[in-house]
Amino acid sequence: MKEIEINGIKETIVERSDYPIEQCKEKLADEVTAILGYGPQGRGQGLNMRDQGFNVILGVRRGRSWDKALEDGWVEGKTLFETEEAAHQGTILQYLLSDAGQIAAWPMVKSNLNDGDALYFSHGFGIVFHKDTGIVPPENVDVILVAPKGSGLTVRTHFQAGRGINASYAIKQDYTGRARDRCISTAFAIGSGHLFETTFEDEVHSDLTGERCVLMGLLQGAFLAQYEVLREHGHSPSEAYNETIEEALQSLYPLVSEKGMDWMYANCSTTAQRGALDWAPKFRDVIKPLVEECYQSVLNGTEAKIAIDSNSSEDYREKLEKELKEVSSQEMWQAGKVLRNLRPENL
Ligand SMILES: NC(=O)c1ccc[n+]([C@@H]2O[C@H](COP(=O)([O-])OP(=O)(O)OC[C@H]3O[C@@H](n4cnc5c(N)ncnc54)[C@H](OP(=O)(O)O)[C@@H]3O)[C@@H](O)[C@H]2O)c1
Repeated sequence: MKEIEINGIKETIVERSDYPIEQCKEKLADEVTAILGYGPQGRGQGLNMRDQGFNVILGVRRGRSWDKALEDGWVEGKTLFETEEAAHQGTILQYLLSDAGQIAAWPMVKSNLNDGDALYFSHGFGIVFHKDTGIVPPENVDVILVAPKGSGLTVRTHFQAGRGINASYAIKQDYTGRARDRCISTAFAIGSGHLFETTFEDEVHSDLTGERCVLMGLLQGAFLAQYEVLREHGHSPSEAYNETIEEALQSLYPLVSEKGMDWMYANCSTTAQRGALDWAPKFRDVIKPLVEECYQSVLNGTEAKIAIDSNSSEDYREKLEKELKEVSSQEMWQAGKVLRNLRPENL
């Protein structure tokens, strides 16, 4: 464990060395981990557990995910089962269906929870918004969470590259007295790097805000605003794209990731530094009230309701594909398609 202190606030970080993988295997020796769902998280977490030699099976409905699981070498009747059969066999149920799918499958999953089982989530959504989802676990099970801070694809690629991905963990219910051990052992089994503690509530509120704001929604909004202004003033698509996106992702963001914003600023021209230092507070002042509005909308359940309603509709996938197509057909991303192909590694 590592104690860290940031601005007087202390936190305990759990590192891989605190729970070596052999120790995790001992702690989970009598468990059957059933991963329900084979989307990006189910796949990344499942393959990492399998590669590390844990006793893991999949529970998947037939169709797209089932076919993907077969392609990945899961064996029908041995390690690959229909969702209900896997839920029946598992002692730790990793509930990794889509958040809308979790609502639909809950009565079945609940009826397959036995005394002392553990119910595991990678998002606090189902539990925190239980008034809308109906997901209320019985008292005689552990309820735990491990939320990797990245997409399921990254969970897998970082593991394959020998690095982990940071994750948060939370214990909602400790019926057996082993919830913490089960939670942390599973976190390292799925390929986490270091872990920080959270609650189901904090995880879902920060996650929904993050993806709506800086991580995804605000990112697209900011890129598009700048691209459009440059184009409206007669700049070419190449120039607008390079000044908005290519330079950000290929050159400047990696510097921020490496050593912070001050380091990136320090490695830019004095003219760039002056402008960025002057304009950053103006953007903060304009954007902060919008982030606050978004946080309130998360907190009062509006965002959850919107997500549940849209993701539960029959034609969800068709509508989603149409909206994503609209994004990809924006000139900015059409320019991206052409210009990415001109990167030296693609020539
Ligand atoms: N993606 C991320 O970046 C991320 C990061 C951290 C945490 N999480 C959390 O991890 C969980 C899983 O997310 P995800 O992105 O991996 O998956 P997802 O794409 O949201 O879910 C896909 C899986 O759920 C199955 N499914 C959906 N509805 C179902 C139903 N009614 N019955 C049975 N199966 C059903 C799908 O099967 P089909 O293929 O047959 O439709 C597929 O296997 C969520 O709680 C999510 O919030 C996600």
